[in-house]
Amino acid sequence: MTRHLLEVDDLTAEELLQLLDRCTSAHPVRVLEDRGAALIFEKPSNRTRNSTEMAVVELGGHPIYLTPDQVDIDGRESAEDVARTLACYHSVIAARVFDHEVLVRMAGAAAVPIVNLLSDLSHPLQAIADLLTIRAEFDADVAGRTVTWVGDYSNVARSLGFACAMQGMALRFACPDGYAPPASDLARMLELGASGAEHDTDPVDGADGTHVLVTDAWYSMGQEAEAAIRKPVFEPYRVDQAMLDRAAPDAIFLHCLPAHRGEEVTDEVLDGPRSRVWPEARNRLAAARGALEWLVIASEADR
Ligand code: CP
Ligand code: NVA
Repeated sequence: MTRHLLEVDDLTAEELLQLLDRCTSAHPVRVLEDRGAALIFEKPSNRTRNSTEMAVVELGGHPIYLTPDQVDIDGRESAEDVARTLACYHSVIAARVFDHEVLVRMAGAAAVPIVNLLSDLSHPLQAIADLLTIRAEFDADVAGRTVTWVGDYSNVARSLGFACAMQGMALRFACPDGYAPPASDLARMLELGASGAEHDTDPVDGADGTHVLVTDAWYSMGQEAEAAIRKPVFEPYRVDQAMLDRAAPDAIFLHCLPAHRGEEVTDEVLDGPRSRVWPEARNRLAAARGALEWLVIASEADR
């Protein structure tokens, strides 16, 4: 059966552990030897493009980077026909899209793994890299520890919440009203095994004693026109040293990057001793490699 990765909970908790093992293995299996991987980007990218291209290379394959002027999904041809066509030449199709539904439609049409490189809904490869960073920090002893998300409940927040839930962690979302997780997502996190999943509008309370403090941009790609409305709403949600000081003494700070320094996080925190944003960025390569390796092997195991 072809396996896709559109959100972290496309995997079982057991499969996520298998995938994490592949990310940290010193001996990747070159599952893409002499094969192609199509990487479609409808939005800009630094980390995701570079880490995914290099992951394909490390697995022996050939990545092809495609932009909307080359593959105009649902313009020049339908998402389904784009996927069917690319599957003629490639063993994996990965895409960064505005509309998550496009990925769902591609997955329904293609007989090769479809990988979400960020959609409006989710960012699973980022969550896997974040989990690698958290597990490395706490020697994999993560169940029962608390992750506090501060700011906008973004695509990154959702995927991180699901990933941490699958490891038995507790989730706190400190988000302003109107930018908070839907009740269905909190319920899903509990269903996935979270030892807690709650929303509170107070960021300082949310930071209290937490082990992982995380934030993201106040306005995501495609939401730039909302910046003027959003900035005053999110002003109290800036992660600064005072907020970090409320966390556990061994707490770490994460940010998927790119950071808007001085908006959602201060330089002092981003560049400070508790920040793990560079190991987190480095883990994007391990996450992409492990995920692609797991997906190709799982998809071809019963053929
Ligand atoms: N964190 C992340 O996905 O970065 P890019 O947008 O640069 O790929
Ligand atoms: N939430 C951000 C993440 C960027 C990696 C966005 O979608 O722009």
